[in-house]
Amino acid sequence: MKKILITGGAGYIGSHTAVELLNAGMEPIILDDLSNSDAKVLDRLEEITGKRFTFYKGDCNDKSTLEAIAKDHKIEGVIHFAAFKAVGESTAQPLKYYRNNVGSLIVLLEFMQEQGLKDLVFSSSCTVYGQPEVLPVTESTPRQDAESPYGNTKKICEDILVDFIKSKPGLRVVALRYFNPVGAHPSAKIGELPLGIPANLVPYITQVAAGIRERLTVFGDDYDTPDGSCVRDYIHVVDLADAHVKTLSFLQKQEMDFYDVFNVGTGNGNTVLEVIHSFEKVSGVKLNYQIGPRRPGDVVKTWADTTKINQVLGWHAKYSLEDSMRDSWNWQKGLV
Ligand SMILES: NC(=O)c1ccc[n+]([C@@H]2O[C@H](COP(=O)([O-])OP(=O)(O)OC[C@H]3O[C@@H](n4cnc5c(N)ncnc54)[C@H](O)[C@@H]3O)[C@@H](O)[C@H]2O)c1
Repeated sequence: MKKILITGGAGYIGSHTAVELLNAGMEPIILDDLSNSDAKVLDRLEEITGKRFTFYKGDCNDKSTLEAIAKDHKIEGVIHFAAFKAVGESTAQPLKYYRNNVGSLIVLLEFMQEQGLKDLVFSSSCTVYGQPEVLPVTESTPRQDAESPYGNTKKICEDILVDFIKSKPGLRVVALRYFNPVGAHPSAKIGELPLGIPANLVPYITQVAAGIRERLTVFGDDYDTPDGSCVRDYIHVVDLADAHVKTLSFLQKQEMDFYDVFNVGTGNGNTVLEVIHSFEKVSGVKLNYQIGPRRPGDVVKTWADTTKINQVLGWHAKYSLEDSMRDSWNWQKGLV
């Protein structure tokens, strides 16, 4: 079995990717400092797969930790999820974000070059596109100035990857630009675990439905969209995990010093109100929500053109918005 190092593998997207890697016949080796996750996820992964995954608790900024892993295991690919991701916090504490998100990528690239490791999948984000002028968003849509230090770390990391590959380090890299990851594993054993007040729509919805929060505010219903609320491309986390598996197989077939980017989304936009109504339909719960004023800095509408990933990687999103709402709700119900 090919061993794949997953940094941030105890987190939301990383844990789902660990399952899909195993399903595809690869062995995940998880490195996580548990700064935004819980070690219990390893028990949950074992319940889903029947396998105890190899886990290292450590910081990806610490090269000696990476070296210790490489000593114990013949690593054949790396997926780099480890990063901080709270947009609001990144504005309050930008250096924390630059140090962790940019710093960990630099340490990882040095480590990979020194160890002769070739294949890297990097977690980027549709945030690099800002509010695109033309929809849907293709990979050649110009990137825009970031709205937050978090968004800027993704842009900077992409730039570092471009420059590094130009120096011919002997690596093959793909940056996946995720749209809006939602949902949970259909087993309801792993899912998104927001600490504190959720910054994302779907965990907020499920927490209101579960009685943890009183009411959801929809920020604006007078935008130029079908029902006036903002539009996003909601991608089920298991589909997203599968995109990483397909990317790794693709990378193994490329020449050295390869770099490319792929959008990962469904290709469909849904409004905030559509998400709420989809949730109400699958859960049978009437959601307590109100319409509030527009929120400064919000992207009004964005969704992915997925032609490239469909054609080049042979990847397609399989789950619907209702599947995502059902799985998120089942996960939330298991938490309370
Ligand atoms: N969830 C989203 O909406 C979204 C959208 C676009 C991109 N991304 C990116 O995808 C990646 C994964 O996101 P997620 O939603 O699974 O987040 P998450 O917080 O659930 O997972 C990240 C994991 O990385 C760990 N971590 C952070 N810094 C670390 C370090 N220095 N060393 C070791 N472990 C560290 C955390 O403990 C956590 O378990 C991130 O890079 C994020 O920026 C996420």
